[in-house]
Amino acid sequence: MHSEERRNGMDGTGRRLIHLNTAGAGLMPQTVRAAMTACIEREAATGCYETEEFFDDVLQREVYQRLARVVGAPAEDVALFDSATRAWCAVVPRLGLGPSDTVWVTPYEYAGNLISLFALRDRTGCRIEVVPTLPGGDLDLDWMAANISDQVAFVSVTHIPSGCGIVNPVEEIGRILAPYRCFYAVDACQSIGQVPVDVARIGCQLLTGAGRKFLRGPRGTGFAYVAPELRQALATDFHDLHVAHVDSATGYRVTDTSARVLELAERTTAAVAGLNAALTLHESGTPFDHKELFQALRATVAGTPGVELIAPGEVQSGIVSFRHPGLPADRIRRALGEQGINVWKIVGNHTPLYMAQHGVDTAVRASVHYYNTLEEIDAFGRALREAVAAGARS
Ligand SMILES: Cc1ncc(COP(=O)(O)O)c(C=O)c1O
Repeated sequence: MHSEERRNGMDGTGRRLIHLNTAGAGLMPQTVRAAMTACIEREAATGCYETEEFFDDVLQREVYQRLARVVGAPAEDVALFDSATRAWCAVVPRLGLGPSDTVWVTPYEYAGNLISLFALRDRTGCRIEVVPTLPGGDLDLDWMAANISDQVAFVSVTHIPSGCGIVNPVEEIGRILAPYRCFYAVDACQSIGQVPVDVARIGCQLLTGAGRKFLRGPRGTGFAYVAPELRQALATDFHDLHVAHVDSATGYRVTDTSARVLELAERTTAAVAGLNAALTLHESGTPFDHKELFQALRATVAGTPGVELIAPGEVQSGIVSFRHPGLPADRIRRALGEQGINVWKIVGNHTPLYMAQHGVDTAVRASVHYYNTLEEIDAFGRALREAVAAGARS
């Protein structure tokens, strides 16, 4: 990887920023910023529609092909949205479920996904069941294998949740579900760009994600892989004009059978071009070799006196959440921020099933990416120990 692409930004005082909040949004590399700027400059100089026409090949073909390669899917099965939640909501509310259907979620489900599932339950009468975990927090795969049946119509698994670093075994789960009729959905918002994600290996029919996190794309980008059999099963109530023609006074015809039927036509050209640049960088060799960083971050937090790690599960990613009984998460975040270190305060009700069960209202989340270094983690460790010691003195 080019060193310029690995480099971190500066904070407001000209100090080198230590960005440990890629789980919120990653730092956009130079190539992404350049692609976006080129679009915006061209829009100002020549017009927005004209710019869209100029970049037609990137916007209508290349970005889909790149995304498809990154997730291991055919290009006609991917669609672009302005967030991961929008991608999820383009599919899940349209599932044709009924009172005899069961939906499985895990305790790591994202709150936004749950809201649409609760609404679906209230509308259709389907039942939602939470997959149990083993004492250490791993999903109980034996329970899944023993209880799966054709009554289960939809299974949602978050690959890596928003609130803690567990990596759920999505491929193993795919093998358990494969003989059954259920549609299998994977939320890859925190995993895409961080750990390998391949829909063919996972065996899912829906995979959603955001561009702004570990892919380092712009805000306002999201995507879905939607398998043809799932698309066919959806009750699609609207088609926008990029995929439909009103060719008489009384009717219309859908002209596209790809996953793009789920998109809306209007979008931010610069964001799509920026996502394409981020995917290009990812394809040019995102190193999934930063386990040393993952471990260093976790060991640093675990070794800080008085700090409690929130780290269920055997396999962990580069997201580490923690809290301190005497120090509010906000205060820790502010103290680190004063040292030029970005972490985030998370709220339990964004991963409500797990966090509520474990009494976590708020916590601090630190997350590393390949552009972080072991030296930065050392600096974070020193700043965290100082913040905790200062908190104990006050
Ligand atoms: C696991 C997970 N799923 C879904 C989302 C929603 O993504 P978006 O904000 O792009 O809708 C997030 C956001 O952080 C997330 O962490």
